[in-house]
Amino acid sequence: MPATVVIGGQWGDEGKGRVVDYHARHCSIIARYSAGTNAGHTIVNELGKFALHLVPAGIFHGDKTCIIGNGVVIDPDALLAEIAMLCERGVSTARLLISQHAHVIMPWHRLIDRADEALRGELAIGTTGTGTGPAFHDKVARLGIRVADLLDHDTFAWKLKHTLEYKNRLLTALYGLPPLDYQTILREYISHGEQLRPYVADTIAYVQEADARGEMILLEGAQGSLLDLDTGTYPYVTSSVPASVAAGGAIGIGLGPTAIARVVGVYKSYQTRVGNGPMPTEIIEGPAMEMLREGVGGVAGTAEYGTTTGRARRVGWFDGVLARYTARINGVTSVALTRLDSLSAFEHIKVCVAYEVDGRRVNTLPATLTEAQRARPVYEQLPGWRQDVTDVRHLGDLPTHARQYVRRIEQFIGAPVDMISVGPEREQAIVTRDIFGVSL
Ligand code: GDP
Ligand code: IMO
Ligand code: MG
Repeated sequence: MPATVVIGGQWGDEGKGRVVDYHARHCSIIARYSAGTNAGHTIVNELGKFALHLVPAGIFHGDKTCIIGNGVVIDPDALLAEIAMLCERGVSTARLLISQHAHVIMPWHRLIDRADEALRGELAIGTTGTGTGPAFHDKVARLGIRVADLLDHDTFAWKLKHTLEYKNRLLTALYGLPPLDYQTILREYISHGEQLRPYVADTIAYVQEADARGEMILLEGAQGSLLDLDTGTYPYVTSSVPASVAAGGAIGIGLGPTAIARVVGVYKSYQTRVGNGPMPTEIIEGPAMEMLREGVGGVAGTAEYGTTTGRARRVGWFDGVLARYTARINGVTSVALTRLDSLSAFEHIKVCVAYEVDGRRVNTLPATLTEAQRARPVYEQLPGWRQDVTDVRHLGDLPTHARQYVRRIEQFIGAPVDMISVGPEREQAIVTRDIFGVSL
């Protein structure tokens, strides 16, 4: 059976965790394939509200295997805290597997993440400060430490010694920070490794065998396509290798690209972004900004503040130009449109259909920051519905103007909207087609 990838079609936080939690019921494996602790995926279910950074959102379905794949960078401290939190709240992690090939976030990565942002000044990216970026830099620089290394104490001691010599020179000379102590890190990380040992496996072999048996595999993307190193708004992007876009799904879990048969694009009904970088449809002040950020008219308690850092998210109208672009980059076959409820209070809703740059109408975002900042969105205005939609479960029960809005978004993306999310909870959705071929 083919694999399904769930990706974010904007700048992250589209509701991927929520969508994966919904679709997990039809799959036997749910796996993260990219990014690190920078991701923050919110799931709301009968046990309460959860923010997951590393553990796949399938963990709430007791009979599923959840995998943290080879493409992820793992902060052992953060992962152990996440496992402990889940266990305390009654969620079993007995079926969690961690790839031996995944890279490890080390103490210098967190320090460098913050120090580097300060050093960049005007070029700062607004990272999550979790050390994820620097861990990927070391992976690419071939200086990374992998989970397998942690479990082999001799290898770890040797690698740590030489890597730390290198990193301490960087920390002291470039960043003006005190050096890190070898023995302290050695002890701490060996202890982390021993606590994680029961979960560590050859997940590549595991997934390949499951695929050969015909099992359904759900690959949970992190971030969004506009934060991707290659396809995003560079340099205001994340550093994940493999990419968070659908093509990275195969590499980050150890399957061939032909194993991927479906790509679910998760799109928020409007646009949000955390951190710096261009965002043509951003609303920087006024009532519309307040309404979008606070989710006025939608489910209470779901205001737009970062799951990982708590930062207020920048908000703006749906960008049809970028949505079309990311749909094509990912080969989106099905759309999950989230937070439709958050638009319910608006009398009129705008969508961006093109940009104007220096008097010229264009259908792509210019490549440089200065040019992108001059891109003025060309808007089309649609009527709002001004009606609570959080209890709607059938398309026919949605107000006409809400249905028109969904159809308009479908036209930009060029793939059917099969799921409309009207609230953060698992069943708060209108599902019009079951993408796994299971009848509704
Ligand atoms: P992810 O990183 O893509 O998994 O998304 P986040 O969890 O960071 O952010 C999505 C936010 O929207 C979370 O607070 C979710 O609980 C919330 N959410 C998801 N779907 C809906 C929805 O349909 N309506 C509302 N009101 N909130 C939603
Ligand atoms: P999920 O999976 C939103 C953003 C950061 C910053 C840039 C680089 O929850 O959608 P990094 O720490 O990765 O070096 O920061 O990328 N960013 C995210 N924004 N959601 C995410 O993940 C993000 N992961 C990284 O805010 O602008
Ligand atoms: Mg998030």
